[in-house]
Amino acid sequence: MLISDHPSAPDPSPSADGCPRWTDVLGDQDLAAGGRCFARHGGHEIALFRIQGAVYAIADSCPHAGASLASGELEGATIRCPAHGLRFDLVTGYARGGGFAMRIYPVRVHEGRVEVDLGATAR
Ligand code: FES
Repeated sequence: MLISDHPSAPDPSPSADGCPRWTDVLGDQDLAAGGRCFARHGGHEIALFRIQGAVYAIADSCPHAGASLASGELEGATIRCPAHGLRFDLVTGYARGGGFAMRIYPVRVHEGRVEVDLGATAR
């Protein structure tokens, strides 16, 4: 799994005007089809996945007990936490059956780079 590591990068503050503040986390070519990677940027630890052409970015911390989700088993756009097995939708962030929701980040591919809005959540 590719790791993009920029732990001391500044943590972008939330946008006061509601516009995204895109942060470059890795090259588009670094995230292969069906692939995943881990990025550390500022105080954020982010797991990224490319599934059927779409890129998803989530906080790499399970809302149940904090386990890393980056190595979780994928079933389509659902990820299974390796610690206790809860399953989360990468699109909505919600656990199947409700109860927990993981943090998901807005993400885009722009000029060959994968960018994440770290100052906001998509949910
Ligand atoms: S830490 Fe993820 S299901 Fe318990």
